[in-house]
Parts: sequence; structure tokens; C-alpha cells
Amino acid sequence: MAQKVKTAVFPVAGRGTRFLPATKASPKEMLPIVDKPLIQYAVEEAIAAGATKLVFVTGASKRAIEDHFDTDPELEEALTQSGKHELLASIQGIVPKGVSCIYIRQGEPLGLGHAVLCARPAVGNEPFFVHLADDLIAGDPGCLAQMADEYEQHGGSVIAVQTVPREDTSSYGIVAVDESDRNRITQIVEKPAPENAPSNSAVVGRYLLGPEIFDKLETTGRGAGGEIQLTDGIADLLKDSAVYAYSFTGVRYDCGSKLGYLQATVAFGLEHPDTGERFREHLKGLLTD
Ligand code: UTP
Repeated sequence: MAQKVKTAVFPVAGRGTRFLPATKASPKEMLPIVDKPLIQYAVEEAIAAGATKLVFVTGASKRAIEDHFDTDPELEEALTQSGKHELLASIQGIVPKGVSCIYIRQGEPLGLGHAVLCARPAVGNEPFFVHLADDLIAGDPGCLAQMADEYEQHGGSVIAVQTVPREDTSSYGIVAVDESDRNRITQIVEKPAPENAPSNSAVVGRYLLGPEIFDKLETTGRGAGGEIQLTDGIADLLKDSAVYAYSFTGVRYDCGSKLGYLQATVAFGLEHPDTGERFREHLKGLLTD
């Protein structure tokens, strides 16, 4: 049986240009869905999958993320004084005991592959998760827990995939798989035009990678969009390691896009105990006007 995955890497150093001006001074991973920022959903999913070491690869304007996961004695004191015990518990529980946070700076946003490589000193020689917080996946168990389960049974690296419309392949990494070998990936291409795409099975923002990926990323040159792509590092990894495509159970929202973000807000708002009932009535009213 493969070893437990204890480390999760959160690359949060992208520019978030699709969400400007909201992301000019504040990272897109701090955009809230109802009452929690995207990065907190990400951390909760990773902890639920067994991660105890959280590695954030940060860039410019990312201080808010460090502050969010830090303690705030003044706020805690104020909430204690005013008897707001539930709110106090909600901020004290953001990082549970036994979980540590490490922050690494990516000097320049050279691409996702480069961001993952920056995490190497903190990850060491162990398998690790990569979680892209702007891909929010509602699922129980969470997507990373499903992938960890798969990995513990069969080993190899595991990448979450989802079927997308043909015309959207140029927004994703696209894989071809060998269905007779547990969907082992045989080819992976970053953002191919629909006519060149090997399938319509798209990589989404969850990876469980072996440490061998780091040596590959050391030599990965700039690819699509002039960036050092994680997809290209994985393409190199396929040559000598098993990497499996995993179709997760759950609903994915692309919160890096305005439409996906709004869809997630509505879906989570309808489910939230504080807002669900009245929000449903409100939406019904809006749609019947
Ligand atoms: P995206 O492709 O969504 O890029 O990155 P982006 O810059 O964040 O957003 P847009 O496209 O300009 O709107 C995917 C993930 O990789 C991280 C991002 O923070 C995001 O979580 N990333 C990307 C880095 O950490 N560093 C990079 O150099 C590039």
C-alpha cells in the first residue's frame, strides 16, 4: 500500500487577470463564497484528505492569505468580550492543531509548473497534493480525499479530470488515457485547439504527484502562454512513471472565471444554513418577475 500523503501545495501566486479589478490588490484566492474565502475551502479539503503540512506558494499582494491563516489575538479578545463564541470558534478553527503552514515566495509568476517547483524545499522527497483554490469542487468526500484513496490502493500519480465540451479544450490541459490500464495517461497537452485535442477529458485543479515531478520541472522550458507549465512537466513524467486520470465525484466551479464564481456563490448560498431558505425565496422572486 502506498504511503499517506501529508503535504498539500497551494500555488497562489498567479496574477488573476480574469478577475481584475477585484484582484488588483487582493488575491483571487481570498474571494469569498458566502462567508469563507476560496483558499479556506481549499485548506479544509486538503486537511480532510489527511494533509498536515500546508505549503503556500505566494506572490505579490498575497499578504492577506498569510494573515488569514495566522492567529489574531486582538480579534479573538474582542469576540470573547462581546460573547460571540460561535464566531470565535469559527476563526480559531481555521488551522486545526497539528497542522502547519509554510509560505514560499515565487518571485515572478513564471507559470504553475514553476510555482510547484518553488515548493520543492518544503515538500522534500514525498508524494504531495497540488490544489488550485480557484477550482472549487463540492463533494463529500472531497476530491483530494477521493484521490488519496485511489493512490493508497494503487500508487502512481493521480490527476483529477472532467469531461468538457470540445470547443473548450483550449482552456485546459487535455489527456489521452489507456482505459484498459485504469485510465493511465498516455498523453497530456496544455490548451490544445479543439481540432488538435487528443480527447475532451480535461485536467482540473487537483493533483497528487510523486516527488519525481520536481526533476522534470527543473528542465521544463516555457510552454503555452510563455509560462513554465505543470502540464509539460507531467508530459515528461509520463515517459517513466505511471500517472492516472481520475474522474472524481462532485461538482466543480471554475471560480477563476466570473460566471463560475457566480454559479458557486448561488449554489453554496442555497446550501448555507444562514442564507439558504431566504435566498431561495429571493431567487424565485427574481426569476418570476
Ligand atoms: P491561472 O491559470 O488561473 O492563472 O493559474 P492566474 O494568473 O491565477 O489567473 P488569470 O488566468 O490571469 O485570471 C492557475 C493557478 O496557478 C497559480 C494561480 O495562483 C492559480 O491558483 N499560479 C499561476 C501561480 O501560483 N504562479 C504562476 O506563475 C501562475
